[in-house]
Amino acid sequence: MDHAPDAQAAALDAGAAAAAPLLSARGLSKHYGGLRAVHDATLDLYPGEVVALVGDNGAGKSTFVKMLCGVVAPDAGSIALHGRMLRFSTPAQARAAGIETLHQNLALVDVFDVAENIFLGRELTRRRFGLFPVLDKASMRARTRDLLQRIGANLPFIDRPVRAMSGGQRQAVAIARLLLDEVHLLIMDEPMAALGVDEGRKVLDLIAELRLRGLTVLIISHNLEHVFSVADRICVMKNGGVVGVVATGTASHDEVVRMIVSGKPVRSSAAT
Ligand SMILES: Nc1ncnc2c1ncn2[C@@H]1O[C@H](COP(=O)(O)OP(=O)(O)OP(=O)(O)O)[C@@H](O)[C@H]1O
Ligand SMILES: [Mg+2]
Repeated sequence: MDHAPDAQAAALDAGAAAAAPLLSARGLSKHYGGLRAVHDATLDLYPGEVVALVGDNGAGKSTFVKMLCGVVAPDAGSIALHGRMLRFSTPAQARAAGIETLHQNLALVDVFDVAENIFLGRELTRRRFGLFPVLDKASMRARTRDLLQRIGANLPFIDRPVRAMSGGQRQAVAIARLLLDEVHLLIMDEPMAALGVDEGRKVLDLIAELRLRGLTVLIISHNLEHVFSVADRICVMKNGGVVGVVATGTASHDEVVRMIVSGKPVRSSAAT
């Protein structure tokens, strides 16, 4: 697709055009009966960038990311990861390919401590007397500390139930758990929506930290201040379609609001 010169500059500004895309979504569509939830949506995600997906309620943001992570099967379009076409029928298949999704409820077990939550369903064991398998709690705690350190999360305690933790601390646990496997793309659907100002700020710091470590993050948010502070590029959706993508370094708050409202791209937007 041809880009206007300033659109190309915008993509370059974000460091996006320098590498091959990690993920290419092309012409994704999902209809529910006569309703176009997502129509012909195209977006490239590059290694190590944070892209925010914004738009009004019902614009198709959640449906779009659900197609990327295997929750919803597209009616049309294609998804390529590292240049290879993939078709996910289940979230487990997307996960195996390195696409993790952080859901709103985080799915933590309240009465379990941090290490127990992180290793839930994939506990480490060792052999006692070389015979009986027993839980290897020391190794799980050590890996937990290591993971939390990797994402720069400073939890005061890891041996107490997560029930006693704040929203932001719980997010850190959920993110650390995702990183147990090899992750290339982390998708977050409104992770800050239920958090207070301080907690939301900590999640933004976490995202910035993950980005520094080379992860690609796709985040849905209604909060444009958050979006401008954490994202490299912003993809605007309306009525199921991608209106345009702008680099946060070159677009203004007002331009993004105008795109959300009018459904028309602004001067600096690129197609993907
Ligand atoms: N399972 C479904 N069955 C029928 N319609 C659906 C389904 N999921 C989404 N839709 C419809 O598709 C459209 C897009 O919904 P979607 O949840 O993707 O929007 P969104 O941009 O995430 O909105 P919000 O900001 O409110 O979360 C809406 O009109 C919604 O009602
Ligand atoms: Mg949504």
